Amino acid sequence: MQIQEILFSQGFGTRRICAGLIQQGHVTVAGHGVTDAAAEFETQGLRFGVGGVEWPYQEKVYLMLNKPAATECSRKPSAYPSIYTLLPAPLRQRPQKGGATQGVQAVGRLDQDTTGLLLLTDDGQFIHRMNSPRHHVPKVYQVTARHPVDEKQIARLLEGVVLDDDPRPVRAAGCERTADGRLQLTLTEGKYHQVKRMIAAVGNRVEALHRSRIGRLNLSPDLLPGQWRWLSTGDLTALDA
Ligand code: URA
Repeated sequence: MQIQEILFSQGFGTRRICAGLIQQGHVTVAGHGVTDAAAEFETQGLRFGVGGVEWPYQEKVYLMLNKPAATECSRKPSAYPSIYTLLPAPLRQRPQKGGATQGVQAVGRLDQDTTGLLLLTDDGQFIHRMNSPRHHVPKVYQVTARHPVDEKQIARLLEGVVLDDDPRPVRAAGCERTADGRLQLTLTEGKYHQVKRMIAAVGNRVEALHRSRIGRLNLSPDLLPGQWRWLSTGDLTALDA
């Protein structure tokens, strides 16, 4: 593929901007400057540099973000900064073939005050699969509740509680107290404010909420709030329901 086309596909701007970056000497491949916008490279396993920053060529991108509190999972946030401001511009600008949207999208949303594991990708099929209720990908949350959680509340969360938008009870797939006094709740659905509403339905209240795991994929402990990393093929396998 031509280097100009490679940069364009990876979100570095319009074809004209990409040609400019190349001609002005900002682009390297294997440590060598490339100034011919039409130079061809094999994309498989390609790493290239733009302005001194190295990037892997990726047909689709998959990443995890440690979402900080006081951020919104919307491109047009109303009260707090958008999580998308935490990502480098190429990830926000990647063109989608035939798609109306641009760049990566969050796989489901977390509330502004919820922290922890958020996946982002530009693979629409992956988003659909992960969000489909048929796939039942378990999501694990650490809940800090206002009042001590008793056995009766745990039993009710496991048996199922009725929320106001659906007569069918929703139940936690797992619910246990952790050593630090929090509650670990596993859900296989993703209803609006589901954890907060389930905890409220048993007479308690969520003070803080953190997502620590999706499927068999844990939030990396070395990822500080606001930091992100690429997902490996092993990570993607761990997300298979
Ligand atoms: N349930 C909630 O109530 N909020 C979240 O952010 C995620 C799950």
